[in-house]
Amino acid sequence: MDIELSLTEALKSVELASSLADLDGVRIQYLGNRGAITQLLRSVGSLPKSERPTAGAAIHRAKVRLEDAIHARKEHLEFEELQHSISEDCIDVTLPGRKRFQGSLHPVTHALTRIEAMFEAAGYDVVDGPEIEDDYHNIQALNLPQDHPARAMHDTFYLDDGRVLRTHTSPVQVRVMESQPPPIRVICPGRVYRRVSDQTHTPKFHQVEGLVIDREISFGDLKGTVIDFIHGFFQEDAQVRFRPSYFPFTEPSAEVDVMGTQGWREVMGCGMVHPNVLSMSGIDPQEFSGFAFGFGADRLAMLLYDIHDLRTLFENDVRFLRQFG
Ligand code: FA5
Ligand code: MG
Repeated sequence: MDIELSLTEALKSVELASSLADLDGVRIQYLGNRGAITQLLRSVGSLPKSERPTAGAAIHRAKVRLEDAIHARKEHLEFEELQHSISEDCIDVTLPGRKRFQGSLHPVTHALTRIEAMFEAAGYDVVDGPEIEDDYHNIQALNLPQDHPARAMHDTFYLDDGRVLRTHTSPVQVRVMESQPPPIRVICPGRVYRRVSDQTHTPKFHQVEGLVIDREISFGDLKGTVIDFIHGFFQEDAQVRFRPSYFPFTEPSAEVDVMGTQGWREVMGCGMVHPNVLSMSGIDPQEFSGFAFGFGADRLAMLLYDIHDLRTLFENDVRFLRQFG
């Protein structure tokens, strides 16, 4: 094989290689293990001894030239490839951007934050209690003995060990009375659970319990506190009414309704803490009296934002929630 001819042919293929893969093909074809030039180098040994140095040197020069040409072409192709990818990946800054929505607080969180701020300003402490309760605190200590018919008042979620998901925040009242002497002035906001679901009831909702115990606390104090709160939360001329009601843990008891766009809506239960409840928690009913209330924070949010179905608050549809940003 003619070395000059092979070299010319090889250099031409290098020039024609239009991609790095092509170029590598050319390299293998000539310089690979079984490549043309590699074979020529091997064949030098079979030439007459006198011809070997000249032939060997010529083949070697050709090999070096080809290697240089491949190297140069490789750099050129790499450069082209880079230019190409830069122009492909370029960002068209004139395209309109995708709109990003800003997150916002959930309407119930809004309501709860305002409620806490209002009561804190009035001198109340904010306390927590467990969401998984024992029967004693959820019911018994609230003046509901084991066989009392009003035990069926709430549709309760029971745990296997006999404990329950608390059905109201009233057990936190009991925990507070057990742990501190009067005077007491607390609110206890938190999640509560019941086996119900309709337009005005959800299985998980939020109550805010209030408890005030001191000397000479009267139903007038309860009424004034509730009306002031409702007027502060909505507006001064919000319509509020008290309806006589029954709770085993208060006497007398009432439920409170607020006028909304769809008529009266119940927002809370309340009353004077029953003497039995005070005694059971270690407070002397001869010396102290108090009132308690428990309202639905979701119901307040419902009225405030004129939401017609309470369940929409917990479906987490961003199209709904976005309205309250
Ligand atoms: C009670 O839960 C009593 N513990 C309230 C109480 C506290 C009375 C202290 C006396 C003294 P009731 O079941 O009515 O009462 O619930 C109170 C409020 O929680 C209701 O007025 C309503 O606003 C809200 N509520 C009750 N059930 C639901 C529900 N499933 N979904 C949303 N809100 C509810
Ligand atoms: Mg009720």
